[in-house]
This record gives sequence, structure tokens and C-alpha cells, in this order.
Amino acid sequence: MSFLTLNIFRSFSSSSVMNLALKNVTVVGGGLMGSGIAQVAAQTGHNVTLVEVSQPLLDKATSNIKKSLERVAKKKFNDKAQDSEKFMKETLDRLKTTTSPSDSVKEADIVIEAIVENIKVKHDLFKALDQAAPKSTIFASNTSSLSIAEIASVTNRKDRFGGLHFFNPVPVMKLLEVIRTSETSDDTYNKMMEFGKELGKQTITCKDTPGFVVNRLLVPYMGEAVRMLERGDATARDIDIAMKLGAGYPMGPFELLDYVGLDTTLFILDGWHEKYPENPLFKPSEMLKKLVSEGKLGMKSGEGFYKHKK
Ligand code: 3HC
Repeated sequence: MSFLTLNIFRSFSSSSVMNLALKNVTVVGGGLMGSGIAQVAAQTGHNVTLVEVSQPLLDKATSNIKKSLERVAKKKFNDKAQDSEKFMKETLDRLKTTTSPSDSVKEADIVIEAIVENIKVKHDLFKALDQAAPKSTIFASNTSSLSIAEIASVTNRKDRFGGLHFFNPVPVMKLLEVIRTSETSDDTYNKMMEFGKELGKQTITCKDTPGFVVNRLLVPYMGEAVRMLERGDATARDIDIAMKLGAGYPMGPFELLDYVGLDTTLFILDGWHEKYPENPLFKPSEMLKKLVSEGKLGMKSGEGFYKHKK
């Protein structure tokens, strides 16, 4: 089959069978967020390529995806073992892995970056991807705290660049924040919104502002909870109980800090504090800094505000 015939076949089959706006999805970064995004995209019929820097990291991401898929399948198919196996197999068949970012984007309709929150590392990645990807490919970042326009600034496709911000655990959390910069085109924005719906997410739109909607509210809230603990107003456990039973939150702020990672929250606060030193809501707490410096990062390290089984 020639390349042209293959492409016609692919677009025919994708538009007639599933009619997906963006069928070929590349996810760069196989951590908690990246593997969750890759899983949900594969679950919903997209061809996914997951990129990591090494094979052991790809193996770890694949193993996490399998574990999470089993939970999804259990919920979706209850006791129907055959349907469950079919769903798992079909999803995993749509998931490919590679350590080469440039190769991964050759046929991508959309690239979602979920790597370390470091602007220089993101710039290096997007410069390389911009050279390797077709002109039509949309680029998106899952950054939780950096500016999308600043990330996009090194590419020649600022009109085809936006933010897609997912929430942990990605297979469970229903929200997707879609971020458009002043240069994101209507076509790119519409395709990102459509893509979010294809993933089964409820989309909302936010301007390219620090933390978008959720983190802009959630991170200062968690920071204030730590300051409350520092002042000795209440214990971590009692603050958690208060917010769960008094405000109906599924987790208290300290459970959430341990779940998201203390280092992640501190990193976000540090970055915002540096940019907006006059804003008291972004002031990092000494207690958070101390715990992170001791390696107490939350669930992933076995201890944060609470002790966890690894
Ligand atoms: N994959 C697949 N399914 C999963 C899962 C995963 N990783 N984690 C949980 N689930 C499923 C479980 O299988 C279970 O399904 P069931 O209802 O059929 O039994 C269901 O979700 C509930 O899970 P659990 O019974 O284990 O536990 P909980 O009822 O306590 O729910 C939770 C866990 C969904 C994590 C809930 O506590 C919650 O919503 N917590 C708040 C999470 C939150 O706020 N996330 C946002 C963080 S901020 C962020 O991500 C932004 C970033 O930029 C920092």
C-alpha cells in the first residue's frame, strides 16, 4: 500500500468510523499526568504515541497505564471478563511508545507536552518538535503554572499552540481547561475544545493567566492551609476533616498536597512568588520548603504531611 493510499485509507476509516477531530496524538512525558493523558486518549479511540527519555521510564508508564486501565475496565464492564479484556487489548493496541521525540510527531495531529515544569527544557523540546512536525500539527502544553504564550514563543506556530490542562487522576477527573493565548487561532481553539469532548471531558476556557482557574484557586488554598498549621490553629488531620465534612471536598488540603506532591506545589508557589512578589497569596511557606528539602514529597516518596505505604 502506498503512503498516499495509506493516508486516504486512514482518513476514510477515521472519519467514517469515529470522526475524530484529532486522531493521531503524541504525548511527551510519561509521568503521572502524561501517562494518564495517553491512557484516556487511547481509551477514546485515538492513536497514541507516548514519549519518554528512556525505555525503563516507558516501561514504568505502560505498567501504570495497565493498572489504571484495569480499574477503568472493572468499573465499565463490571463482571463481563470478555468485554473487559477486549477493551484493554484494543486500548493498549492503540498505544505506541518511543524515546525519540522527533520521530513521534511525524504523523501527529496534536502533541501534548507533560514534561518537567522548566521553561528552558520545554523550549528545547518545542524547538525540536517544531522542526519535525507537519505544519498542521497543533501543539499543546499541560503546564500547571507556566505561561502558554511564553512556552509557545520559541515556535513558528503560535496560532496552532494552546494549553490543555488535565487533572490528577486523569482517567477520573472530568475537567479539562482549554487555554487560548492572544495568538491561538479560532480553528486551533475549536479543535482543542472538540478534542476535549472526544476524550469525554467537560471543557472550560480560561485566558493564559497564572494557574488558569483551578490551580489559581487551589494552590493559594493549600498554601493557606499550611500557614494555618504553622500557626498552630489546628492539626493537619483536623483541617482535612473540616474541609471534607464542612465543605464537601473529596480530600482535605493536606491529603491533596500529599497526592499532588509537595514539591509540585512548592515549585508552583516559588515560580509565582518570583514573578509576583507583592502577592501574599503566592508566598511559599517555610514548612513546605523544609519538608521538600527533607525529601518528604507526599505519596510518591512515602511521606509528606502523612506517612504512606509505598
Ligand atoms: N485510574 C483509574 N481509576 C481510578 C484511579 C486511577 N488512577 N484513581 C481512582 N480511580 C477510580 C477508582 O477505581 C474508583 O472507582 P469506583 O468508584 O468504581 O470504585 C474511583 O476512582 C474512586 O477511587 P477510590 O475509591 O480509590 O478513592 P476515592 O473515592 O477517595 O477517590 C479520588 C479518589 C478520585 C482521587 C478523590 O479522592 C478525589 O477526587 N480527590 C481530589 C483530586 C483532585 O483534587 N485532583 C486535582 C488535583 S490538582 C491537579 O491535578 C492540577 C495539577 O496541575 C497539579
